[in-house]
Amino acid sequence: MRRLLRRLVPLTAACALGAAALLLGGPGAAEDEPAAARDPDRESIFELIAPRAGEIIADVGCGKGTWTLPLARAVGAHGRVYAVDIDRNKIDDVRRRMASEGISNVELIHSLPDDPMLQRDSLDAVFVNDVIDHVDRSALAGFLAGIRSALKASGRLIIRDPNGGPGRVIAECYRHGFTLIEARVPLEDMPRRSFTSGWYALKLQRADRMQPSLLPRGGKPNRRLTKLHLAEELFRVELLSREELRTTWETIESAAEPFDPEIDERLDLIRAAEAVGAIDASTAARLRTSVKKP
Ligand SMILES: C[S@@+](CC[C@H](N)C(=O)[O-])C[C@H]1O[C@@H](n2cnc3c(N)ncnc32)[C@H](O)[C@@H]1O
Repeated sequence: MRRLLRRLVPLTAACALGAAALLLGGPGAAEDEPAAARDPDRESIFELIAPRAGEIIADVGCGKGTWTLPLARAVGAHGRVYAVDIDRNKIDDVRRRMASEGISNVELIHSLPDDPMLQRDSLDAVFVNDVIDHVDRSALAGFLAGIRSALKASGRLIIRDPNGGPGRVIAECYRHGFTLIEARVPLEDMPRRSFTSGWYALKLQRADRMQPSLLPRGGKPNRRLTKLHLAEELFRVELLSREELRTTWETIESAAEPFDPEIDERLDLIRAAEAVGAIDASTAARLRTSVKKP
């Protein structure tokens, strides 16, 4: 799966540049936003977010507002951007930048780690850039649930991150009621700081309903189903060919050990107990045998 994810949904340069010119082309935009302007993926990110005049968008984990201000320009006077961050200093930074750049369509929210404090059903899109991996594990469920409830019915969530593979994030988003629409994932031989080299970007949509069968909140995750669903999603967004999807299905179906979350979890516990020295190797071996008994 990891190998298959290392593909890029190709970009049409002309389209990207056109979109960028349209969306960011306000006077002096490039000088106003030095960090965003230096980002090699700037045009592609905006193409993915696709902000339209009049829309309401949240930049969650906005930091100093690198992306907040270009987004505010893109949605225009009739639109609004919420700049959300748990760090009050960052919120103050954005306030200062708004004042110096004459931006008035941004609202500031000093949020909590597990609650972006956004109004229900109010947003067309949420952008989360270089944040998801900073969100505390224990806060991630609330973080994503808060974003989902703030999105309008078909609202979109764009996640971009340099850290780790997108697989875990896609799975977490599924678990919290999002569907994958598009994925841009790294190629290895491209310049640094580009999602063509390490960064990935995902476009998701608020799903009609939660998908409890995939990763149930309370019970044990059904890993086999998760793999199957993720493979199907990757096929849908054209990251997997039909042939690769078939191979993936067959591999999952014919895995040597039949999938059983109960057994899996007990084996994981034994491995962990052995690793921390709570049980010795022979005890671990004996326990493994007993777990495998029908
Ligand atoms: C690496 S910075 C990225 C800032 C900005 N998105 C950018 O691209 O320049 C990560 C930001 O996420 C914020 N953050 C971390 N966890 C958060 C959470 N649970 N909710 C909101 N913001 C969070 C941090 O305070 C920090 O400002």
